[in-house]
This record gives sequence, structure tokens and C-alpha cells, in this order.
Amino acid sequence: MIPSTYHHRDRAQLPRLHVAIIMDGNGRWASLRGLPRRQGHAVGAVALRRVLEAAPSLGVSDLSVYAFSADNWKRPPEERLELFRLFERYLLEEAARCQQEGVEIRCIGWRHRLPESLQEAMSSAERQTAGGRHLTLRIALDYSSRATLAQAAAWATPEDAGPLATLSRQAIDYSLANVYGEPGRRLPEVDLLIRSGGQQRLSDFLLWECAYAELWFTGTLWPDFEASHLAAALDEFRRRQRTFGALSTPGATRTEVAAGGMR
Ligand code: FPP
Repeated sequence: MIPSTYHHRDRAQLPRLHVAIIMDGNGRWASLRGLPRRQGHAVGAVALRRVLEAAPSLGVSDLSVYAFSADNWKRPPEERLELFRLFERYLLEEAARCQQEGVEIRCIGWRHRLPESLQEAMSSAERQTAGGRHLTLRIALDYSSRATLAQAAAWATPEDAGPLATLSRQAIDYSLANVYGEPGRRLPEVDLLIRSGGQQRLSDFLLWECAYAELWFTGTLWPDFEASHLAAALDEFRRRQRTFGALSTPGATRTEVAAGGMR
């Protein structure tokens, strides 16, 4: 049974958007300049700061970024360590700034495999920025959407008992919130997914939440990504017609159309 206190998080009257970003191309950016890959990641962190600053005024309330996938463990240990060090430094440095700006930092993914000092930086940044109302920055670290969904299904309660027991979409949503460590707070559906770096795939990122996401790909390598790229992606997003499986419904709001399709 899903408690009645369970709700979609709706902080503003205006529709505000959830943008997810696969920040790809750091390594190539560095190689093109004869630099070590870690420099590409470091400059990628600066690009993230630019995007974070621009997002609220472009109507974004939730920004989810793919920093380290569960499959990134296949990278050489030196690169993994450099990335972990960069994430830790970023979180320590950004927490105070985000707190001041009303940006709430949340981390999703399997934390226990990450270095302890990074885990501590993640928890500390989350504590320090909790309740920030301007924007939620969700950083996916050691994240796999399929693993997350499998866990949510295992924890979910079927609607009916017996051999034909089914899991409703709401039951999975509810369980996912627990897996994400935010009981009772649903991770909003992704409105727009951006991937930099020229590849056009989802790479196991927010598969459930991207069910009706609009996709926007650019060949720009992540360290070169500017606020203007985000603005261009959002401009195109606003020109697209989203019907969520219905026929075109002039005048219907995004939320109304989406709710019509909910079971
Ligand atoms: C993919 O580029 C990028 C990553 C695996 C790391 C993402 C990290 C950042 C953008 C740093 C900033 C983020 C935070 C949270 C501080 P790649 O290395 O696969 O690039 P390539 O495809 O050119 O090799």
C-alpha cells in the first residue's frame, strides 16, 4: 500500500524541467590537446559549474548528471582514482557555494564500493545543501539504471498476492524512491536528456525516468559545453510536441497529458 503522503515533488507553480546530462567527451578533449585524460575531466567539472549556474534561469528545477557509471569500473585503476579524487574535491568545494545558491546536491548510485573519503564527501554535501529550493543537482556515481530497477522490483510490494501478482507503476516508483535513498520523494521524470560527445545512446542512465524524455545530442565535447548549448537544447525541447502516446492535444499541459497515461 502506498501511503497518501507520497507525492510528486512540485516546488513551483510553473512547470519546471528535469534535465539529465550524459557528460561525454572529456578524454577526447584532452587527447586532442595532448593532455592527460584527467585534465579533460577537470575542465569538465568547470563546464558542469557553467551549466549549473545557467540552469535555474532557463526553467530547470532538476539537473541529473552522469558522473560515473557502474560500467566505468572497467576503466584503468589510475583513471578511476583520479575521477574519485576529482569528485571528492568538487563536492567539498561546491557544497558551500551550492548551499548559498539554494542548490540541493543529491547523489544516486551504489555508494559502498566508492572510496570512504568520497562517500563522506557525498553525505556531507547532501547534509549541507539539504532543503535547497532553487535547483536539485543529482550526481550519479557508480550508477546503473538496470541494477537500480532490479533492486526496486525486489523491494516493491505486488498489488495482488498469488502467482499472478503484478507490480504497478506506482509501486515501482515508490520503491525506486527508497532505492535512491529518498523515501516518499519521487525522482521526477526526465523531460530532456542531453548527451555531449557525439554518441547517441543512453548508456544505462535513468532508463525508467527517461520513458518519455526528449533526446538531444551534440558532437560538442563536454569540456566545451557552454550555457548556450543548454539554452539551445531547451529551445528545441520547447518546440517539440509531446503527446505521451496520446493524439495531439492542443492546450493540454505537460502534466495533464502525462497523468492521462498513468496506470
Ligand atoms: C565521460 O567522458 C566522462 C566521465 C566518465 C566522467 C564525467 C565527469 C566529469 C564531467 C567531471 C565533472 C563531474 C563532476 C561530478 C565533478 P569520457 O572520459 O568517456 O570521454 P571520451 O569518450 O572522450 O573518452
